[in-house]
Amino acid sequence: MRSSAKTLPLELHDVSLTAGGKRVIKDLSCRFTALAGCSVIIGPNGAGKSLLLKLCHGLITPDRGTVRWAGGADPGLRGKHQAMVLQRPVLLRRSVWANVAFALKSKKLPAAERGRRVDEALAQAGLSRYAQRPARLLSFGEQQRLALARAWVTRPELLLLDEPSANLDPAATHVIEEIIKEAAVQGTKVIMTTHDLHQARRLADEVLFLHRGRLKEQAPAAQFFAGPENDLAQAFLRGELLWWRRRSIYDPDEGRPDS
Ligand SMILES: Nc1ncnc2c1ncn2[C@@H]1O[C@H](COP(=O)(O)OP(=O)(O)OP(=O)(O)O)[C@@H](O)[C@H]1O
Ligand SMILES: [Mg+2]
Repeated sequence: MRSSAKTLPLELHDVSLTAGGKRVIKDLSCRFTALAGCSVIIGPNGAGKSLLLKLCHGLITPDRGTVRWAGGADPGLRGKHQAMVLQRPVLLRRSVWANVAFALKSKKLPAAERGRRVDEALAQAGLSRYAQRPARLLSFGEQQRLALARAWVTRPELLLLDEPSANLDPAATHVIEEIIKEAAVQGTKVIMTTHDLHQARRLADEVLFLHRGRLKEQAPAAQFFAGPENDLAQAFLRGELLWWRRRSIYDPDEGRPDS
């Protein structure tokens, strides 16, 4: 753990969020610490995984409950120490190189050092040969790698990744996972979502299982994958959780009016 933590622990207490007249995050409490390693959020489509990451990054604020970073709720401090890659990354209308360089703008580095870091980040993401290409001409998978390079180059204390390899081929997925592992080695806390349970097994130190806006289980990865306590999580791992069914036989919360 870094000695001067500015963002961790990250704590959500009784957080609820309404969108489109529907409660989409429900009474959610959890705590993220550097000691717990890489935290992987899993759950069916629409469970609230992306919303949870956005709450953690302060991109949205809850209707009820609190989000606190290192014991405080100061948005100014937070921005400098954490970075997020959205499920659909938004890139600047500039070159690939300039997109990464821009992320370092606030760091006030000498130009040569800034250039070295950008080159290194692009090499690590396998994008060196596209450096001078307009970022918007990259394929979707390449854009995803660029978005991760741009976030990681700032060496944040906390890195939030929403399905970082959803559109990537196996080699590119490997590149992404190597960056995530290096982040962990360098003391960056990673909180990410994935639909790839194999990836979750490879990367997770702890797992959070979300279902219809509720956090059903947060457990060390080894314990979770050996057999989760929650019935819905068990069904999800077996591939039996049917998100399109209005009422699930597994979920006691389903009868509630806001479910
Ligand atoms: N701005 C919004 N207005 C209305 N509903 C929203 C809004 N944002 C999200 N939702 C709803 O909240 C629920 C959770 O959305 P979220 O994007 O967090 O799901 P997810 O778990 O990330 O799903 P996926 O696996 O498909 O990425 C969904 O039912 C979604 O339709
Ligand atoms: Mg999502």
